Amino acid sequence: MKLLPYALSLAVLFTLTEPARILSVIPTLSRSHYIDGRRILLELARRGHEIVSISCFEEKDAPPNFTWVQIEISSFFDAIPDMKEELYKKMDFFRGQERLWRFTNQLSEYIVNKPILKKFIEEDQSHFDLVLAEEFYQEVFYVFAHKYKAPLVLLSTFGSGHYISEYMGNALELSYVPHEFTDLYGELTFLERAKNLAYTAFDVIARKYFSLEEQHYLAQRVFKNLKDVPHVADLERNASLILINSHFTLAVVRPYLPNIVEIGGVHIEDVKPLEKKLKDVLDGAKNGVVLFSIGSFLELAAQPEPFIRDVLNTLGKLSQVVLLKWNSDEKMPVNYRNIYPMKWLPQNEILAHPNTVAFITHGGLHSAQESVYHGVPTICIPFYGDQPLNCKKSEKMGFGIHISNLTESNLNNALREILTNPSYRDTAKELSRRFKDRPMSALDSATYWIEYVIRHKGANFIKGPKRNLYWFQYYFLDLWLAVLTSLWVILKVLKALLSLVFGKKEVVKASEKKTGKKVKKN
Ligand SMILES: *[C@@H]1O[C@H](CO)[C@@H](O)[C@H](O)[C@H]1NC(C)=O
Ligand SMILES: *[C@@H]1O[C@H](CO)[C@@H](O)[C@H](O)[C@H]1NC(C)=O
Ligand SMILES: *[C@@H]1O[C@H](CO)[C@@H](O)[C@H](O)[C@H]1NC(C)=O
Repeated sequence: MKLLPYALSLAVLFTLTEPARILSVIPTLSRSHYIDGRRILLELARRGHEIVSISCFEEKDAPPNFTWVQIEISSFFDAIPDMKEELYKKMDFFRGQERLWRFTNQLSEYIVNKPILKKFIEEDQSHFDLVLAEEFYQEVFYVFAHKYKAPLVLLSTFGSGHYISEYMGNALELSYVPHEFTDLYGELTFLERAKNLAYTAFDVIARKYFSLEEQHYLAQRVFKNLKDVPHVADLERNASLILINSHFTLAVVRPYLPNIVEIGGVHIEDVKPLEKKLKDVLDGAKNGVVLFSIGSFLELAAQPEPFIRDVLNTLGKLSQVVLLKWNSDEKMPVNYRNIYPMKWLPQNEILAHPNTVAFITHGGLHSAQESVYHGVPTICIPFYGDQPLNCKKSEKMGFGIHISNLTESNLNNALREILTNPSYRDTAKELSRRFKDRPMSALDSATYWIEYVIRHKGANFIKGPKRNLYWFQYYFLDLWLAVLTSLWVILKVLKALLSLVFGKKEVVKASEKKTGKKVKKN
């Protein structure tokens, strides 16, 4: 009975939105940047909408309502010349942000100059009812929303960010929400709050005057057919909705506007049956299975030789079966009987298997979410970006161990701890229950809010009014100025009144004293 109103409202929901034409731009080559959007787009197509998707990835089995414009690009290194040399370099926060913006600017410059994109930008498609764009420092593509007079919906694959809050008009909670690319965590001390403020100020201001400006110039060059291209900063401020890949059970609890919607875990699909050979390995692993994978973009094979040897020698001593992602044609430098190198592995299905006891990961957001979803404890070896923070978090939350500097001995110790101390597994299971307990699935939230924006023609009424305030208005600086000025004026007036009431005598006396002193001094 309780389900009836729910079912009814769902039925209404399904019928209310007319089929729409949606343009999606998710240009970043990395698979981890595509898998959230992909899931949402395929679902929208299933619900009868027509999708035109610009991305680097092919969708061979897409439904008839899903067409894609594929950006041909074989490697990040084609697009970003500096990347090969700089990717693994450890940098401080400021240089790291500069590198990130430089890379993404080079990437979008490269992509918009691809013939297929040039053609798409120049020609006029009939119309679009909505533009969905990835939020990853490639704001040039937001101009499509202006060109087609369609509402703009953003999709952030790395969770929220203070600069996102800033342009969406959300509260900036710098006293307790750490900047997303630092390793600050938990209650911030006085100095940490100062650091958080300084980093965020740099991030917001430098992005505005460096990265956004460059995107703006690029937009003006590329969309030269359009008469007046608005500044990309104005386009992002006018976004109707942003879907962010996070969930409050795994992040700092904080206030969000109604048009900032958490869809953490949206990429996690239903578990599919395993292929026979792999299933036998997993089923037969009496002492359990350890999964080793450092993401779709990083590769173990590309790491320095000592790193690879440390990893393999440690894993080779385990009594567990190790399924290891080895994405290279070259052979591993050492082989062990319990280690199964695999070029590609079904991570979701392996994590879902009851025999899987630990997951060694780089701490990418998607992997962290999958391990929590399936309740598998992690050993976390971060490389860059948000990974150090994710790793630190997994340790503080009690379901993982963070290794900042990998050696044979600390990997060994971490494995022993994870495999013998049940508290990690118990915590992972508890977090899994919290993560899954929601009024509607991440995928339903995403499609609901996208259709909401379509139904309400951009839903201007859910956009944050703070966007229209100057910063000094938001922080009441103008009010403080007015109050202090008034106080000063009142004091002056009072003083003048007092001198009138008490006659000139005292005033004269006082001034005599003053001049007297002056005379003495002289
Ligand atoms: C494809 O989308 C259009 C609306 O753009 C809709 O009318 C049509 O029914 C959809 N077709 C399928 C097969 O879903
Ligand atoms: C990491 O470990 C190596 C080998 O033990 C050591 O030489 C290096 O100084 C360590 N680096 C850091 C940042 O702790
Ligand atoms: C902002 O977006 C709405 C649709 O959501 C649109 O009608 C309006 O023209 C946009 N304003 C600007 C300044 O781009």
